[in-house]
Amino acid sequence: MGQDQSIPKDGWRNFYGRRHGKHLRDSQRGYLDEDLAELSLEGISRREEDRLDRFDPAARFGDRPVWLEIGFGGGEHMVHQAALNPQVGFIGCEPYINGVAMLLGKVRQAGVENLAVHPGDVRDLFDLMPDACIDRAFLLYPDPWPKKRHHRRRFVTRDYLDPLGRVLKPGAIFRVATDIPDYVRQTLEELMPDPNFEWLAEGPDDWRRPWDDWISTRYEQKALREDRTPHYLTFRRI
Ligand SMILES: C[S@@+](CC[C@H](N)C(=O)[O-])C[C@H]1O[C@@H](n2cnc3c(N)ncnc32)[C@H](O)[C@@H]1O
Repeated sequence: MGQDQSIPKDGWRNFYGRRHGKHLRDSQRGYLDEDLAELSLEGISRREEDRLDRFDPAARFGDRPVWLEIGFGGGEHMVHQAALNPQVGFIGCEPYINGVAMLLGKVRQAGVENLAVHPGDVRDLFDLMPDACIDRAFLLYPDPWPKKRHHRRRFVTRDYLDPLGRVLKPGAIFRVATDIPDYVRQTLEELMPDPNFEWLAEGPDDWRRPWDDWISTRYEQKALREDRTPHYLTFRRI
C-alpha cells in the first residue's frame, strides 16, 4: 500500500492506507464534483494556510448531539444511522475517495441532510477539535494490519485512543466491530486499563450480539462470506 505523509501542526505523520482505488464510475465522479464540497467540513486541511486553528462541531450542527464514524468505507452504516437519528449530526471520516463517492451516492438516495464528511484522516479532526465535543463514535471493521510489526499502525493504539478519549464527552459511547480476534485482544488490552474508558459487556456472550440498530457493513459481509466471526464491543467514556 502507498504511504502518504500528512503534515499535522506538530510534525510529520504517516498514513498507510489507500486513498484511491482503480476506477471511479462516471456517476461517482459526478457525486464528488457536485456534492462533496457542500458536505465537506471546511478548514480541515493538511495545508496550514487553509486550515482552521480550531474546529468545533457545534459550528456545523449547533446544539445537536454529534456522532463520529471513523473510516466509514462505503458509508452504508453512517447513512443508515443518520436516517434513524435525524436529531443527531454525523461526521464521517474516510480517506479512501472511492468510499467517499459511494457514500455520496447513498446520501442522495436516502435524502439525509444531517451529516458532514472529512474526506481524510480522522487525526486531522482530532488535531482541531475541542475537548468533549463528540457524543458517540464508531470504529467499524478498522484495517486489521495482521502482521505483528504493523500492529502499531492499528487505530487501537495511543496515537488514536488518547485524542479520541479527549474529544469524547463523559458518558459518550464508543462502538468497535471487528472480525479479527487479535484486534479484539489489542482493543481490550489498550482500553481495559485506560482510565478514560469502561467496557460495557452484559455477560460473557455480549460481544457476539450486534447492536439493536445495527446494519451490516460491506466489510462485515466480506468477513461472513469468508467464515470469520464478527465481534461487537461497546465502551463508555468515563
Ligand atoms: C476495512 S475498512 C472498513 C470500512 C467500513 N467501516 C466497513 O465496515 O465496511 C477500514 C476503513 O478505515 C479507513 N481508515 C484507515 N485509516 C483511517 C484514518 N486514519 N482515518 C479515517 N479512516 C481511516 C480506510 O480507508 C478504510 O476505508
